[in-house]
Amino acid sequence: MSAKTRAGAAHVRRQLVAAVAVTVACFYSSEATQLQVGYYNGSCPAAESLIETIVHAAVRKDAGNGPGLIRLFFHDCFVRGCDASVLLDDPTGSPGNRTVEKTSPPNFPSLRGFSVISRAKRVVERRCPGTVSCADIVAFAARDAARIMGGIRFAMPSGRLDGRVSNASEATANLPPASFNLTQLLGRFASKNLSADDLVTLSGAHSIGRSHCSSFAPARLYPQLDPAMNATLGARLRARCPAGGGGRRDRVVDLDFATPLQLDNQYYRNVVTHEAVFSSDQALAGRNDTAALVALYAANRTLWSQRFAAAMVKMGSIEVLTGPPGEVRLKCNKVN
Ligand code: HEM
Ligand SMILES: *[C@@H]1O[C@H](CO)[C@@H](O)[C@H](O)[C@H]1NC(C)=O
Ligand SMILES: *[C@@H]1O[C@H](CO)[C@@H](O)[C@H](O)[C@H]1NC(C)=O
Ligand SMILES: *[C@@H]1O[C@H](CO)[C@@H](O)[C@H](O)[C@H]1NC(C)=O
Ligand SMILES: *[C@@H]1O[C@H](CO)[C@@H](O)[C@H](O)[C@H]1NC(C)=O
Ligand SMILES: *[C@@H]1O[C@H](CO)[C@@H](O)[C@H](O)[C@H]1NC(C)=O
Ligand SMILES: *[C@@H]1O[C@H](CO)[C@@H](O)[C@H](O)[C@H]1NC(C)=O
Ligand SMILES: *[C@@H]1O[C@H](CO)[C@@H](O)[C@H](O)[C@H]1NC(C)=O
Ligand SMILES: *[C@@H]1O[C@H](CO)[C@@H](O)[C@H](O)[C@H]1NC(C)=O
Repeated sequence: MSAKTRAGAAHVRRQLVAAVAVTVACFYSSEATQLQVGYYNGSCPAAESLIETIVHAAVRKDAGNGPGLIRLFFHDCFVRGCDASVLLDDPTGSPGNRTVEKTSPPNFPSLRGFSVISRAKRVVERRCPGTVSCADIVAFAARDAARIMGGIRFAMPSGRLDGRVSNASEATANLPPASFNLTQLLGRFASKNLSADDLVTLSGAHSIGRSHCSSFAPARLYPQLDPAMNATLGARLRARCPAGGGGRRDRVVDLDFATPLQLDNQYYRNVVTHEAVFSSDQALAGRNDTAALVALYAANRTLWSQRFAAAMVKMGSIEVLTGPPGEVRLKCNKVN
């Protein structure tokens, strides 16, 4: 080998080392960029379409699965990140002990969509064993529900791993209740690196689905109607949610009585006319910047849909696990 070729080879080696170093630096620099659109292109190319088929069938059978799955994604991501910890059962097999997230008051008994995720997991496992995480299935299912209920189409990056821990008190500590004021809501979102804009944008999910009376009646309907609530809506909600209700007889109401099955910007119009169900919804009208965004979304469905898609992707990157102790669970309700 001539001196010149040797120098050339050394140069190539140096470039390679530099390239590897840059790759490693990128890999560790930001959690969010570790997720990729089409992560399963090579390992399970059918995954996203299989999941979409299951979600579509489930929503056709029971439209409530649509809102259920979108909320499931939110409740997963806000507690220990998007790691499917919300799906885990009590490891001792004693659900009555209420030790895991899914048994905590923000989730039980209202959270729904679990059976859709386990069905999707079964189908995907049959095609590609041990490949697709439950956390990614939850994210894909929420994305699919947004398309089915609102025509909102977007790519959902993937590559999340499943966590091994689920703790009921962490759900209570991280998920905001409907009685929260704007300051408190902003605090919970900021702790997940989500902005006031993200709060306003994501709250638009309350354009579909339902609430149990117990989630808002004590704060907004009794003993007197919350003065921030439209009296016509208040009378309607009182008829549906009698005083002292709850417990076994806890009924449900639509969050958006105008277009309950459409994921659209009607929610923002409801906030403007004081016809939103939760104080946390009405609270968005309480500061001029958040109120201005509410008004903008109320006037432009396309704008809201685009921002909602982007905010769902952002929420989907909260504290994701892409290495140990993360794993691809074989069953979504128990660690491997
Ligand atoms: C901003 C703070 C939020 C609060 C205080 C809040 C609170 C609630 C409450 C209390 C319910 C009713 C539960 C029940 O009693 O059945 C509910 C339902 C729902 N929430 Fe939220 N939520 C918030 C943000 C979000 C976000 C960010 C999303 C998703 C992007 C979301 C999606 C939903 C959906 C789709 C439903 C209907 C669920 C169903 O029909 O099963 N929420 N929310
Ligand atoms: C997977 O394929 C899609 C469509 O061709 C492409 O946009 C995406 O970047 C690919 N992702 C990966 C990680 O290969
Ligand atoms: C769960 O509750 C059962 C019955 O009360 C009790 O025997 C068991 O020890 C509890 N398990 C844990 C892990 O606390
Ligand atoms: C659950 O989380 C709380 C903090 O929110 C902590 O005090 C508690 O020890 C945790 N429980 C378990 C079993 O790890
Ligand atoms: C929001 O609630 C917190 C806790 O109750 C309270 O300290 C704060 O003053 C409230 N903020 C507003 C703007 O009402
Ligand atoms: C928020 O961002 C900070 C700084 O980049 C980071 O240390 C923290 O882990 C992030 N928190 C969440 C919940 O993503
Ligand atoms: C309350 O809602 C009703 C029905 O949408 C509407 O006609 C009325 O103008 C609203 N009242 C106020 C004070 O906004
Ligand atoms: C909100 O109010 C502050 C001070 O009162 C003002 O500086 C700001 O421009 C207002 N923002 C909007 C969006 O109206
Ligand atoms: C609504 O938002 C879309 C998307 O951002 C924008 O292209 C359009 O011009 C807006 N429409 C109006 C009437 O402002």
